[in-house]
Amino acid sequence: MCGIVGIVGRNAVAGQVIDALRRLEYRGYDSAGIATLEDGRLERRRAEGKLSNLQLKLVQSPLSGAIGIGHTRWATHGRPNETNAHPHATPRLAVVHNGIIENFRELKAELQAQGCVFETETDTEVVAQLVSRGMDQQLSPREAVAAALPRLRGAFALAFLFAGEEDFLIGARHGAPLAIGFGEGETYLGSDALALAPFTDEITYLEEGDWTVLTRAGAEIRDQAGTLVARPRQRIATQSFLVDKGNYRHFMAKEIHEQPEVVGRTLAHYVDLANGRVALPEALPFDFATLSRLSITACGTAYYAGLVAKYWFESLARLPVEIDVASETRYREPPLEANGLTLVISQSGETADTLASLRYAKAQGQHTLAVVNVPTSTIAREASAVAPTLAGPEIGVASTKAFSCQLTVLLCLAIAAGRARGTLDASQERRLVDALITVPGLMAEAVKQEGAIEGLAREIAKARDVLYLGRGTAYPMALEGALKLKEISYIHAEGYAAGELKHGPIALIDDAVPVIVIAPHDAIFEKTVSNMQEVAARGGRIVLIGDARGAEAAGLDTLATLMMPDLDPVVAPIVYAVPIQLLAYHAAVVLGKDVDQPRNLAKSVTVE
Ligand code: F6R
Repeated sequence: MCGIVGIVGRNAVAGQVIDALRRLEYRGYDSAGIATLEDGRLERRRAEGKLSNLQLKLVQSPLSGAIGIGHTRWATHGRPNETNAHPHATPRLAVVHNGIIENFRELKAELQAQGCVFETETDTEVVAQLVSRGMDQQLSPREAVAAALPRLRGAFALAFLFAGEEDFLIGARHGAPLAIGFGEGETYLGSDALALAPFTDEITYLEEGDWTVLTRAGAEIRDQAGTLVARPRQRIATQSFLVDKGNYRHFMAKEIHEQPEVVGRTLAHYVDLANGRVALPEALPFDFATLSRLSITACGTAYYAGLVAKYWFESLARLPVEIDVASETRYREPPLEANGLTLVISQSGETADTLASLRYAKAQGQHTLAVVNVPTSTIAREASAVAPTLAGPEIGVASTKAFSCQLTVLLCLAIAAGRARGTLDASQERRLVDALITVPGLMAEAVKQEGAIEGLAREIAKARDVLYLGRGTAYPMALEGALKLKEISYIHAEGYAAGELKHGPIALIDDAVPVIVIAPHDAIFEKTVSNMQEVAARGGRIVLIGDARGAEAAGLDTLATLMMPDLDPVVAPIVYAVPIQLLAYHAAVVLGKDVDQPRNLAKSVTVE
């Protein structure tokens, strides 16, 4: 988490640093800061809260330096106040940091024993002090950074600015991404290419352990061993970075409404319409037919997409699936057979736990397939194969369109696996593809329920607790519905498998707890109806997200029924994503919450 920026510019860079930080706010937004050189002197401006607070400070007290670094923070060590905001500085240097220095306590104790005085509660300050200390001992800035880096444990990206050094910055990558951008007589550092898009489309990604000295003339890159290395320069399609809210009040609303289009675009990439079959865009370096098991890992919403996919791979391809959240996978060290397959799912492609699990699987000799939305991300670059989602940049912190595109790609992969394993014949595949291609239209139908959903949201917003229930693929959708609601409205919500209700959660049911049941009219619908009866019998208020056939068959009094179109149940999760997202969105709006930047969260979770 946290976004970092560095610019060796021709004119005053503060405005550019702020522009870049705005594009990195998705990585954290609890405080922000900037440092530049003013006549060789280090000057900092820092502010608690959103970037706009920092901008205000810069209006009151401008900076004119032509070289600078900036930071937008998601607090890990130390409260999100101005003192703990980056850049952290000594008289010799300022540093910004994304990640965690795991051994900061022992380094701090060592430095304190040498007389260093610390001002903040952060882990980052030890980096500033450590490098400064090296310079006290007559090392040059380069030598001091080179000596300090091997002493730091953890995952981090760093950018250093030195007093009196008007023509260079130093950047380092160790477990957190860092990109270099090349402009006309200017060079840039950024946590991702998106941050640098207003200035350049010429990007070099640092590799693990690399560090770089950036001057106006270019960049010198060294690997962990200190050897000069050449890393490829890529031209990035900056048009895809042009992001605005259009006529919507929030990015989340825009991104929910975009789903019919982006799911359609993603489908067009995976489906051969003329022949009614799935056609993967790239040949895969493994054969689904020979797999005895598929391991899936991801975090949060992406994990729930994986949980839906488990049902699809098992039913359509008869492929056993093991799935776990990546924060557990990475330390559980599951036995994985060589030449087996691990599938990772990630919107950002930078999630620390997902990346670590991918690396673990690779080390076990597994093939790795990444369903990922950011094609230049670390996960996309490190996986042995990539199945891209074509959702476009997702800015709202709560994942919406990336989720529905993940589901779309995962269903295509499950169908391809079924064909390869002989569990689907051509006519079954055609039926599934026919169902898939109706999805964008069905999602557009689902969006039309927005008026009803907005009305229901006013009721839901009054609740302190909400339960979501579902069976089959509707179970992970219940988990996702609850996550979406709690993360942006701060209403406590839990998702359960409908059949689990009587094993404990039923104790929570009373007329103050709305129970939202996701239930398309599928083969197990009747079973879910029994669970709804159990809720109704205890005075629970039911919201049914279902279809006309189901509503009629259930014959229950509900607080509301959100009517979804008739569909093939196999594609229901993709379409039913729409009402659960809209309900969370409108509940958060009713409650006046910060929908696009909910408290305590960040879009890209690059710390574990
Ligand atoms: C919730 C949400 C998160 C992410 C999770 C994984 O709305 O967005 O739960 O799904 O942090 O992120 P990625 O997909 O970038 O790996």
